[in-house]
Amino acid sequence: MDRTVVLITGCSSGIGLHLALRLAADPSRSFKVYATLRDLSTQGPLWEAAGSQGCPPGSLKTLQLDVQDADSVAAARAHVTEGRVDVLVCNAGRGLHGPIEVHSAEAVGSVLDVNLVGMVQMLQAFLPDMKRRRSGRILVTGSMGGLMGLPFNAVYCASKFAIEGLCESLAVLLPPFGIHVSLIECGPVRTAFQGKVQDGLDAVLDSADAQTQDLFSQYQRHFEQVFHEAAQDPEEVTEVFLTALRAPQPALRYFASERILPLVRLRLADPSGCSYVAAMHRTVFGDKSAQGPGGAQAEPGAGELGGPEFSASPAAPK
Ligand SMILES: NC(=O)c1ccc[n+]([C@@H]2O[C@H](COP(=O)([O-])OP(=O)(O)OC[C@H]3O[C@@H](n4cnc5c(N)ncnc54)[C@H](OP(=O)(O)O)[C@@H]3O)[C@@H](O)[C@H]2O)c1
Repeated sequence: MDRTVVLITGCSSGIGLHLALRLAADPSRSFKVYATLRDLSTQGPLWEAAGSQGCPPGSLKTLQLDVQDADSVAAARAHVTEGRVDVLVCNAGRGLHGPIEVHSAEAVGSVLDVNLVGMVQMLQAFLPDMKRRRSGRILVTGSMGGLMGLPFNAVYCASKFAIEGLCESLAVLLPPFGIHVSLIECGPVRTAFQGKVQDGLDAVLDSADAQTQDLFSQYQRHFEQVFHEAAQDPEEVTEVFLTALRAPQPALRYFASERILPLVRLRLADPSGCSYVAAMHRTVFGDKSAQGPGGAQAEPGAGELGGPEFSASPAAPK
């Protein structure tokens, strides 16, 4: 029986690395995994873990693939010896946080380029063949930052909101081709991601005004607490990918953590956005200066969500 050929972007660490291992080591022996990395010199941890998890020979192969580089995407595709990819996992991503006025144009461009343009580039490379074969699955690492705005994550959220639109649009189009698109919506996950986000921020933070710096400190404290209380291990998240992968009729969205759902529902329940904005502001910054429609306070909406889930989830910025 032919194995399911899976190609995953961003496998140097975190969710991509764990998903590659999980599939390659699956007891069914039914997956051939192409774990792709922007820089092949970072593949050591993946192979060490593959050895210790007993991935069978031939179940895992690494390829260089930088989603920002069309030539590298094409070269990786050409190295897939089966001549087809059954499951494409768009996972590579980059974060950015801080006051919007301190971001360099380069940092903004880079986040949009990796998270959005890079994914479009992957789809352009792999979708036409799936359409020809009238079969395929596209799994995307989504984020609660793509479902709701989060303070000090405006550019990251913009990139992840864009991915929501991209995936939803394709999900509407692709069923006649036998292709399914699924987003795995993640709350905070314990990976290298947060450490990379902080890189270089301290050097530029001083250029923001004092009140913004103070709010950013509050946000950071809140985020650390939420991360401490609610972050998931990547292994837990990879099981949700497996659920989507195995579903006969996959949904557009799967939630890695149920803790995201009250906020998702709050946004949908009040399309004006007022309830969400007020509730999130109060939760992160602990004051009542943001008000709902007509000056209504945030408390009623937040209260309805049921304390612990709500207070544990909102500030998780990724
Ligand atoms: N961790 C969270 O809390 C969280 C929550 C929600 C969603 N997510 C999403 O999950 C995905 C994976 O992140 P993670 O948490 O596993 O963090 P991670 O360990 O930092 O993994 C990110 C991966 O993306 C790769 N990447 C960055 N730029 C790339 C490029 N131009 N081409 C190819 N690969 C590139 C990184 O490679 P290098 O190591 O070479 O940079 C790394 O392998 C991201 O899309 C992120 O937005 C994360």
